[in-house]
Amino acid sequence: MTAPLFDTVPGFDQPIAVLKHCHDKIRKQLSTLQNLLVHLLQQGNTTEAQQAAKAVLQYFDKAAHLHHDDEEQDLMPMLQATAIGDDAALLQTLVPEILADHQRMDAAWATLRPELDTIAAGTGKQLSAHGVRDYVAAYQAHMAKEESQLAPMAKRLFSAQQMAQLGTAMQRRRGIAPEVAEAPDAAALLAAMRTDYAHSSLSESDVLADPIAQFQKWFGEAVNAQVGEPNAMSLATVTPDGKPSSRIVLIKQFDERGFTWYTNYDSDKGQQLAHNPHAALLFFWRELERQVRIEGTVVKTTAAESDEYFNVRPLLSRLSAIASQQSAPISDRATLEANYAAVAAAVGEEAHPPRPEHWGGYRLQPERIEFWQGRRSRFHDRIVFTRDAEGQWNMQRLQP
Ligand SMILES: Cc1cc2nc3c(=O)[nH]c(=O)nc-3n(C[C@H](O)[C@H](O)[C@H](O)COP(=O)(O)O)c2cc1C
Repeated sequence: MTAPLFDTVPGFDQPIAVLKHCHDKIRKQLSTLQNLLVHLLQQGNTTEAQQAAKAVLQYFDKAAHLHHDDEEQDLMPMLQATAIGDDAALLQTLVPEILADHQRMDAAWATLRPELDTIAAGTGKQLSAHGVRDYVAAYQAHMAKEESQLAPMAKRLFSAQQMAQLGTAMQRRRGIAPEVAEAPDAAALLAAMRTDYAHSSLSESDVLADPIAQFQKWFGEAVNAQVGEPNAMSLATVTPDGKPSSRIVLIKQFDERGFTWYTNYDSDKGQQLAHNPHAALLFFWRELERQVRIEGTVVKTTAAESDEYFNVRPLLSRLSAIASQQSAPISDRATLEANYAAVAAAVGEEAHPPRPEHWGGYRLQPERIEFWQGRRSRFHDRIVFTRDAEGQWNMQRLQP
């Protein structure tokens, strides 16, 4: 028999082989972690060390949890439903052990993770040798147990149909739609889309006493985590007939006075805010499994503030702001372009066209700010701040 030329990746039609393949990847990441320890001691925090820390973080933050969920939510329950006699007796001791191993490894990871974060960011070089040793040893013993007991039992007991069921569940967990002969049933697919959140946690002692400072902390972490458009937020307003209306805008400033964005004062949202200044903002930072909800009343920024921001925008954006009657209907794109060309011609060579009256900033003055951190099995953390009559912030935990 000749060895395969490439390291072949098994398909989800062989779910037990996929789980074994995951173990091989875990072993590679564990060896990177051990090499990183030596590298840091000998060479300090180099670019190579940062890349290694990022790879390890990426793997154990995401893929390893998916693998644990495969076992906890599908493989072991399916085995428990199928096994009888000696197999069932073995599972009675093995399943609690595996669940406890997962918890122990999660706890060990929680101590290593902040150190790896600072190494990846290039701001630290501390990596606990003890922590690495415990984590690697716990994983190795755990994988050996699964490979010698759980996997052979599944291969022996599962029918072809059960293997297909397991493979499909694992595929869906990774957001990969299984191949289907006919058009997928959207309702079934939506029901099966179930991301479990395991990135982090949020406790009363983690949260800063000032919610604006806490927002600043999370915003900085969203930027560092390279979340896509971390400054994009949903803005919900209310129409004069009491109906909600929402859209995305970009936050341009935040401080103790509130959260600021810029727009057209005559737009739909501008008219709605003139009628009812209550509004809600929402940030969703998917990569960090975080949501921030902010509610309060909206005021216009001063003309001087709006001028200051208008004047630092790129010239073409300033021309757009002058040319567009945002939210008003127009017959076609050509008319819109003609309006822009007319504005550009009128402004001519002038580098600093004045801000039009209809364009400026709004600032939402917060009365309620909620920080939401996704947790496993929908048991999320929610910490809410509300401002009392004296203007003091009070903090409370809410049920998920
Ligand atoms: C990522 C993103 C960022 C946006 N940023 C702004 C913004 O900062 N200001 C703005 O007026 N519109 C922004 N928009 C467009 C708004 O979502 C919306 O279409 C526009 O403001 C008109 O809304 P209205 O008719 O409800 O007033 C953005 C849209 C997206 C998708």
